[in-house]
Amino acid sequence: MIVQKIKTTPKKIGVFDSGAGGLSVLKSLINSQSFEEIIYYGDTARVPYGNRSQKVIIQYSLEALNFFKTQHIDLLIVACNTISAYGLQSMQQASSYPIIGVIKPGILALENTIKNKDSKILVLGTKATIKSNLYQTLLQKRGYHNLSALATSLFVPLVEEGIFEGEILDSTMHYYFKSYPNNPDAIILGCTHFPLIAKSIAKYFDNKPLLIHSGDSIMQYLQKQYPLKPTTNPTKITFFASDNLERLKQTAKLWLNQP
Ligand code: DGL
Repeated sequence: MIVQKIKTTPKKIGVFDSGAGGLSVLKSLINSQSFEEIIYYGDTARVPYGNRSQKVIIQYSLEALNFFKTQHIDLLIVACNTISAYGLQSMQQASSYPIIGVIKPGILALENTIKNKDSKILVLGTKATIKSNLYQTLLQKRGYHNLSALATSLFVPLVEEGIFEGEILDSTMHYYFKSYPNNPDAIILGCTHFPLIAKSIAKYFDNKPLLIHSGDSIMQYLQKQYPLKPTTNPTKITFFASDNLERLKQTAKLWLNQP
């Protein structure tokens, strides 16, 4: 069945992630001061999604859609690259409001800045995101041909643990990046946990590459899609989690204050 989507300027939006990673996207949405209300839902009972199969990721994504049924949102942001790679299409087909993932906006943000198609692009993501090949295929379609992609799943638990710099992260970066001999011109942070360690990743590559961040990319995308206007009141945010809501709220307090 094809569901007719109503495209109103979104005032109340939903944000869905497998867990806490989507908070880095939430931060960009809050900073934009464009929304009256945001409902954040993290499937903290089942994170990480990044090591799971396509079938299970789709199943979890549709279950999250059920959660949002009673929230009366105008738009849903899938603030997770793994879900954007595997679950987005099924969610869009089953929903009456627009649902936007982070992958297409990320590609458009890169294209806006990196005009030289010979540039060296490095895509980082979970195992599932890299295996989906979606970033690589979309970049190739747009003419970028100097591509490398690395599954750097261990960054996810490090970030969850609050480790944003230091020796464990340095050796993990060395473990992953030693096989990558070049200095990239741009790095796509293809996992919403990675903006939290963006400074360390940039430093590893001598602060030279441009870093593409899902949260900033999706805001650029939304500003092009809708006539968003600054709200008069601060955005009202409500958190929901499938497990340990208090922990998610604590992480939100810490992360949303990170520069
Ligand atoms: N936040 C997810 C992403 O952007 C990664 C975490 C997970 O594996 O669930 O891909």
